[in-house]
Amino acid sequence: MAGGVRLSRRALLAAGAAWGVGAVLAPARTGFARAPAAFEPTARLTLAAGETDLRLLGADKPASRIYAYDGQPFRQLRYPRGTRLEATYVNGLSEGSSLHFHGIRMPNEYDGVPPLTQPLVEPGGRFVHRLPLDDPGTFFFHPHCDETGQAGRGLVGVLIVEDPRDPIFDAEEVLCLKDWRLGEDGGYLPLTEPDGASKAGTFGATRTVNGLPHLDLTAPAGGDVRLRILNVDSTRIMDIGVEGGEAWLIAVDGHALPPVALDSLPDGIWRMGPAQRIDLHLRMPAKGGPVTLGDYRAADVYSFATITPKGRRAGKPRKAPLALPAPELPMPDVEAAEFHSFTLQQATDAAVKELGLPPDDPLAKALVASFCVGRATYWSIGQVSWAAGDRLGLPPPLVAMAEGRSYRIEIKNETRFPHPIHLHGHAFAVLRSSKGRLPRHFADTVLVQPGEAVEIAFVAAPGDWVFHCHILEHMETGMMGWFRIL
Ligand code: C2O
Ligand code: CU
Repeated sequence: MAGGVRLSRRALLAAGAAWGVGAVLAPARTGFARAPAAFEPTARLTLAAGETDLRLLGADKPASRIYAYDGQPFRQLRYPRGTRLEATYVNGLSEGSSLHFHGIRMPNEYDGVPPLTQPLVEPGGRFVHRLPLDDPGTFFFHPHCDETGQAGRGLVGVLIVEDPRDPIFDAEEVLCLKDWRLGEDGGYLPLTEPDGASKAGTFGATRTVNGLPHLDLTAPAGGDVRLRILNVDSTRIMDIGVEGGEAWLIAVDGHALPPVALDSLPDGIWRMGPAQRIDLHLRMPAKGGPVTLGDYRAADVYSFATITPKGRRAGKPRKAPLALPAPELPMPDVEAAEFHSFTLQQATDAAVKELGLPPDDPLAKALVASFCVGRATYWSIGQVSWAAGDRLGLPPPLVAMAEGRSYRIEIKNETRFPHPIHLHGHAFAVLRSSKGRLPRHFADTVLVQPGEAVEIAFVAAPGDWVFHCHILEHMETGMMGWFRIL
């Protein structure tokens, strides 16, 4: 099996047999035993998930025990485009986990989604991922099991794939936005609650950027700054805006688009759900005051960074924005594409079931943990809900597709809440929104507003790829399906 996984097969099979779903989870049907293609690593890395302390409540307040890769909050990796990365994941947590490189187009067997593409990585276990880093951009990585618990405690890292053809900026900053659910003693409040999971999500009240309440940065007056902004929160949708300087949206989810002035977008903001990333080109004012970056979604604006001019950019003032080279991605043939429509819905009453065991029952815990699912079902995609509670088999794929064909997918949101919908293993073109609010761009996650229909298109890559809401509680309570691409 790829990657030298250690799986507690006995535990998995026993759990499966107990619930009559063993056959559904057999590797032959989930396809994770495929032989790895030829791959010559040009970079090697070991990434260990573990715990560390961070003073999230303030320097004079108690520290919080967070999860991080290699003990570094928001661990940052940078590789040049074209790197063949062999990343060995080591699970140093006391619970099962996995590693998923979000937005990276890769062979399906390295996608890190138990139980679909690989078994759960048990504590102390490892898994080797072989990643062709061919698309430049701002990406991130996180576990794909008990994400509300593990990403909720901070287990996310940043992967930047650099493109030597990029224009030269005077400064670059990476900003990871994440809230934390903390009590006054620095310990965690429940990371999920039914009232959140079944509605807009369970929000954290301690807001941070790179683990701090606010960042104070500097950049030369008149200078060009590249801001890589990542929403790595589990729940919160943010309206990113800039005040005091000129800013252009130059990439979404890592993929370049022709620069769009932030001011020309509705409300002058870019709305960004969990897992979405943007690159902004900020031009510092030639004279005068600081630039502030904020989340304008709530009445109570969260200003997360201030960039104060320091020194002056040499050379004559520039007018036009600095565009990134156009993405080199498989281009879907929109005319010839096969069309499918999926509706995001509340799960029907019949499907809203809780696991019929008390929450602290060891069997209940083991089952939910080994299948990486939540305890209840509240949501569905195309009338199908992912496994949860006592329905632990994989649902059938939402659709079977053919490798290399173009597909056009409409995502209709019939719920009262926005959902950032993510497809693994692909970069898709966002073709249109029924609300007309989106410029055409490539992405791996797209926010679909209540009552909105968004259309995406892509060229199908082989494998079993999940398609889910990236509000982690939604995905764990049913809003996840998968495409089988043969
Ligand atoms: Cu960010 Cu299913 O992933
Ligand atoms: Cu959702």
